Amino acid sequence: MRKKFIAGNWKMNTRGIDGELLAAAVVKGLAGDTRVTVAVCPPFPFLPRVAQIVAGTPVALGAQNCYPKDDGAFTGEVSPAMLVDVGCKYVIVGHSERRQIFKESDEYINAKVHAALKVGLQVILCIGETLDERKANKTEAVLDTQLTGSLAKITAKSLKNMVVAYEPVWAIGTGVNATPQQAQDAHAFVRNRVGQLCGVAAAQTLVIQYGGSVKPDNATILLSQPDVDGALVGGAALKAEDFLAIVRAGVG
Ligand code: PGA
Repeated sequence: MRKKFIAGNWKMNTRGIDGELLAAAVVKGLAGDTRVTVAVCPPFPFLPRVAQIVAGTPVALGAQNCYPKDDGAFTGEVSPAMLVDVGCKYVIVGHSERRQIFKESDEYINAKVHAALKVGLQVILCIGETLDERKANKTEAVLDTQLTGSLAKITAKSLKNMVVAYEPVWAIGTGVNATPQQAQDAHAFVRNRVGQLCGVAAAQTLVIQYGGSVKPDNATILLSQPDVDGALVGGAALKAEDFLAIVRAGVG
């Protein structure tokens, strides 16, 4: 049985005090319940402040990005080792906003995956097709390319420290979520493909989150699909009660 994993991607939102209050409300609402894995991913500047709030609670800390080097002359970048230093357990890599706005390639994302795993972070690797790609029946081809590139040289052992988030780009921030069947079909495809790339046994235990307009009112049905093991939540993660309702949906 794969444990459900709900992560909140706060994106470039909140200020320090809002982040603290949001994290504190999540901690309080969760009340020590560990039936679902829970993480919050605030913007870089607020990681240390949120780390203090979630320390010693079941809420884990994640970052939204990293640069694939430990140290050096990379002005403005943040290394995976720095994320570990401030208390992160997770890092999101390859989010569609980074792929689209910052033109990140699968090769670059793969370098980040390796760099993050090397220092002991758990990686949430995001993949997903655009609306044009879906309309052109290219969803599986796109997922295949993204998985093959982003998971290059990832072994079954490394995969244990990874989560894949299937996030159709057309569903992110739009209020239009994938139907439960669309999500299930994509997740089953991803699990099968990861099985070919990294080994079937490892793929069976891989947690695959769905992301894209997950809300309290659609979380239960999405999370009840056999291959949907959790959610990467954007907008709804900014309201503690909505985020907690999604976590409760994950309890089943
Ligand atoms: P959304 O974002 O829940 O606001 O659609 C999800 C994501 O981008 O991770």
